[in-house]
Amino acid sequence: MSKNICFIDGLEGILKYREIDINQLVELPYDAVSYLLILGELPVDQELAEYSSRLHGEREINREVMDIIRMCKLNIDSMEALRTIVSFISQFDPDINDSSPEGNLRKAIRLIAKIPTIVAAYYRMANGKEPLPPDRFLSHGANFLYMIRGSKPSQLEAEVMEKDFILSAEHELNASTFSSRVTASTLSDLYSAVVSGLCTLKGPLHGGARSEVMNMIEEIACPENAEEFILEKIAKKEKIMGFGHRVYKTYDPRGMIFKQLSRQLAEAKGDMHWYEIAEAIENTVIRELVEKKGKPIYPNVDFYSGVIYKYMDIPPQLATSIFAIGRVSGWIAHCFDQYEKKRIIRPRAFMLDEC
Ligand code: SDX
Repeated sequence: MSKNICFIDGLEGILKYREIDINQLVELPYDAVSYLLILGELPVDQELAEYSSRLHGEREINREVMDIIRMCKLNIDSMEALRTIVSFISQFDPDINDSSPEGNLRKAIRLIAKIPTIVAAYYRMANGKEPLPPDRFLSHGANFLYMIRGSKPSQLEAEVMEKDFILSAEHELNASTFSSRVTASTLSDLYSAVVSGLCTLKGPLHGGARSEVMNMIEEIACPENAEEFILEKIAKKEKIMGFGHRVYKTYDPRGMIFKQLSRQLAEAKGDMHWYEIAEAIENTVIRELVEKKGKPIYPNVDFYSGVIYKYMDIPPQLATSIFAIGRVSGWIAHCFDQYEKKRIIRPRAFMLDEC
């Protein structure tokens, strides 16, 4: 079954979830894509309505959890808080020891629903504000922006956030999904498998790249500085955050969509500044690494998503947690698949040379 959760053609730049192309999926609600990933088929209207109602109804977190979030230090990365709180909330889940498909689906819905609330609550407390209760009538993307800002987002921003979650939702056996899958393969519980994914996603070579991209764009400050900045990094053989990929040897299809969305936001806000810096970075990397050295170092999923967060006033500290909000559906899809196999993943050391 795992073979059809995700299909990637790294040479042609094709990505599909359950055989549906990412360019089609990105036009759907995140709830529909999450349903597709964890239940295997796109929902019909009635199924989607029921699933969304369950998901949105599970967004609240209880007072004990809020109290623990309040105890988190205020200057840590939101991924450290998220990792801690997801571990903590498992004890409140009545299904924690129910490994039946129905019990696992109930846990999946709680995790997908509550992770945005945890991220937003920590973010607001870390900024001296009281957390806001989720709005069950808003989409996944709109509700998250509402919970961090305290005001409902524009339709464009809500759509961009929804698309971000979809583009981040699944990507075959990337490091964090593999990590979740290994944990599930021991028949450990779903919360433990998701915590494994969170711990792995945090690394700067993986999900942590988005915040690094944002910091890089901030440091470059204007398009005219981009070329010299990138040439210096290349001269020092430093990796350029948001570029390169183990599988894609051409443009990451998600990066293409994120680039279009970031331009849309820039034009809607009448401010091309961050977009032009990003384009200047991309042009220099393509010219210096792809064209001159033949290295397939193209923008990946984390480059223009970092630009989008600049336009949406989302701080670098939240970038990886936003990735996790989208990716949790993919982790769970792989865990469900592994639970069906009931077989431990136990590679041999010599295989590491190939990884
Ligand atoms: C994600 O696996 C997934 O699917 C991940 C992900 C997902 O959806 O889950 O797509 C999400 O993690 C995207 C990647 C985010 N990380 C970054 O943007 C960090 C910067 N990127 C690099 O660290 C790197 O490109 C990786 C980690 C993404 C992939 O690295 P590989 O496949 O291990 O490639 P490599 O390190 O072996 O590099 C091969 C060559 C090297 O040059 P040489 O030593 O052969 O001369 O390419 C060069 C590298 O120096 N190279 C880069 C580069 N990435 C590779 N040079 C400059 N900048 C870069 N970003």
